[in-house]
Order: sequence, then structure tokens, then C-alpha cells
Amino acid sequence: MPEIISGGGKNADLASESQGDAYRRIVSRFTVMEKKIKIDDLKVGMYIILPTSWFKHPFAKNEFSISEKEQIRKIRECGFEEVIIDTAKSKVPGVEQKPPEPQPENTVKTQSVTVVPDELSEAIHDKKLPAQEKAKAVQKHSILMIRNLLDNPSAENIRDVKKGVAEVVDLILTDDDTSYYLMNITSHDFYTYTHSVNVGFLAVSLAKALFRKSMAHDMHELGAGFFLHDLGKVHVDPAIINKPGVLTDDEMEQMRKHPDMGHKILLDTNQLTNECRKIVMQHHERFNGMGYPKKLKGDEIHLYGKICSIADVFDALTSDRPYRKKMDSFKAMKLMKEEMLEHFQKDLFEQFVLLFSRP
Ligand SMILES: [Fe+2]
Repeated sequence: MPEIISGGGKNADLASESQGDAYRRIVSRFTVMEKKIKIDDLKVGMYIILPTSWFKHPFAKNEFSISEKEQIRKIRECGFEEVIIDTAKSKVPGVEQKPPEPQPENTVKTQSVTVVPDELSEAIHDKKLPAQEKAKAVQKHSILMIRNLLDNPSAENIRDVKKGVAEVVDLILTDDDTSYYLMNITSHDFYTYTHSVNVGFLAVSLAKALFRKSMAHDMHELGAGFFLHDLGKVHVDPAIINKPGVLTDDEMEQMRKHPDMGHKILLDTNQLTNECRKIVMQHHERFNGMGYPKKLKGDEIHLYGKICSIADVFDALTSDRPYRKKMDSFKAMKLMKEEMLEHFQKDLFEQFVLLFSRP
């Protein structure tokens, strides 16, 4: 059985945002210390803000100080004609820094941008929305939320996303009809944020079935762990994540670092409990010890990690890849049962299969 690699680059709908649109989105939060600059005028020491998401350039972050000319060459290769620089954060020898202009009192200097779309909460609480439409709206706006987070996984943004996820978790816990449609959503592409959201829906639903009679689990925290399980992919080269083919050994080695890197982001930003951080660290471990990064087996893997691994593999199998079409749910379930059952804790997998029956 080939290794299942889940989650990739941009969602087709969301990717339709043009570079110009992305640029205008970023320009809309300009401060007085930020200005547009031609690529030819870039210098080492300038603090740059790239006019697109990290999926479209080879750098780890959208914002950084240019430390060498090689980075300017790479920026030019990306096809940008101009970028934004923050003059206050730039340190360019011989260039005088313009001090921030005084702002009138009671004016907002920057437009506040929240990673959680207002429409997510509106859809969740819209009592007139039929369950199937509600599920579609919740998926769409959850995907936007996770996309925004992956663009900038700061502590503040993770905290905001946890609030958005908590509302989604409450919806799944209290609304069986909408939960059914969330479980059976047919939009499965291979992009990281779509995958993160689908795994979130699936894993929270499995946790709901398993922990129905228990108060011992913080479902909000658990939900955040599931939605953020692939957070470490923000530090994997996008060329590897988006590669339209099977990864080489070296590329696979890079990819296999994402559980550890995601765990580190959560530690550095002091987010999630130790138990829920294990979801991020252990979602590629396998019950038979054949997973990664630590080759844990059986009960060495936390229950939360085992739940996430089932949802993760199922979504990977039912998602389109550049080199293979998605399987339908039945075929995926059959393959998991017949060829991969030793990867999972059997009773958890059986409970997962039962989730797809109509309530
Ligand atoms: Fe993963």
C-alpha cells in the first residue's frame, strides 16, 4: 500500500484569486510605514511584504527582511513587478528611514483583519438555512479561515481560529443533520486547507460518537487540534507540497518533518494543551508501528492521534490528486478495511464506518 500523503496547495476556487486581487487585499491593510516599490529598487535590508500567499513563492513567510541578493533574484523569478516594503522595519545602509506620520486621534491606523470570516458564524447560527446548504457554507468559510491562518500562523491568529473552530464543534455536537452533510461533503481536493477542514469535520464527528457519554474531553481544544493537524506544512517547501507526482526520498523526508514543525509552532505560540498538540505530532503514526515521525505503535499513540489518523487517511483517499482521481467513500472505506486495517485501532475504525449511516 503506497504511503498516503494528505493535503497540498491551493483550493481551485480560492486559487482563482488573481495576483492583483491578492495584492489589493494586502494593500487594504497598508499602514503609513508601508509603501509599494519596484522589484528593481529592492535592496538587502528592506523588510518586504509579498503580495500573495506563501503557496506562490519559495519563502517560508510572506513578510521578512531581505538578507541577501539571492532572495531578490527569487522574488523577481516569482513574476512580481512590485512589492510592499515596511520602511519602519527596513534597515538599508544610506537610506534615511521615514518616521511614522502622526495619526489623528480616534482614527484607526490599520484596517483590522480577522482570520475568521464573519460569514462562518452567520451560517452556523442561521436557523432558516437548510442543513445541506448550512454544511456547504460552513465548509466554504472554514476553508477560508484555515487558508488565512496558514498565510500567517501567529499566536493571535491561532487564538482567533480556535474560537471559529469552537463554533463549528458546537454545531457538530448539537446538529446531527448538518453534521451528516459535513461528513459527506463531496468537495475533496488535495489542498492543505481543504484537507484540514475536512479532517476537522470527520475527526470531531468520530470524537463525538466515541465521547458521547464522557465529560473528560475538551471538545473545543480537541477540534482545534484536528483542524490544525497539518499546520507544520507552512514550513514545507511549497514546490514539494504542490508537486504533481510521487515525491522523491529527499522530498518525502522534508514532508515527514511537518508533524514536528507543526508541534513546534504550537509550542512556540503556547497554543493547545499538551494532549491536543499530540494530534499534530502523531497523526501520521500507525497502529502497527509503520508510521512517522517516531514509529510509535499501539497504545504508544495517543487516542486523539489515532482518531486523527483515520480521518486523515480517509480524506486523502477521497481527494483528487494531480496523479490520481479521488475514490468514492465506499471504495476508500473498503481499501482501508482490506489493505490498511493494521494501520488503525480496529474499534475506532469500525465506529468511523458507522458515522456514514444517515441519522
Ligand atoms: Fe499530515
